[in-house]
Amino acid sequence: MHLKRSDHEHGPPIVPVTFLLEDPHALTGTEQKEWQLMGGAGESLLELAMDHGINIEHACGGVCACSTCHVYVEQGMDQLTESTEAEDDRVEEAPAIQRNSRLSCQCEIKGTGPIVVRVPAWNRNAIKEVPH
Ligand code: FES
Repeated sequence: MHLKRSDHEHGPPIVPVTFLLEDPHALTGTEQKEWQLMGGAGESLLELAMDHGINIEHACGGVCACSTCHVYVEQGMDQLTESTEAEDDRVEEAPAIQRNSRLSCQCEIKGTGPIVVRVPAWNRNAIKEVPH
């Protein structure tokens, strides 16, 4: 689905955000597991990833209506906007949730970093394994 983008300007891309991909081939078509990007204030993790060719699943288009954009924030949780009740409810539907689980479409960068995000392998597999 088309990604709904935030409707505000992002700050300059000065915030270091590292994406760790458990299944880089499925997400990028490459074998590169670690991606060091620069994000801007107000930018969501999903937008940042997608803009750099990391195709995190986002079945609802980034409007907090699925849980396919689930990621783990390994570092810098306080550098992101806090989760809302809607996000908390939705993220519970994701497989293998942890204390640092977030929906990447819902967390926007607010601090100066650094931020480290792990994208689980089943981000893609969960979709592929739906029985027909
Ligand atoms: S893309 Fe659906 S909740 Fe993030």
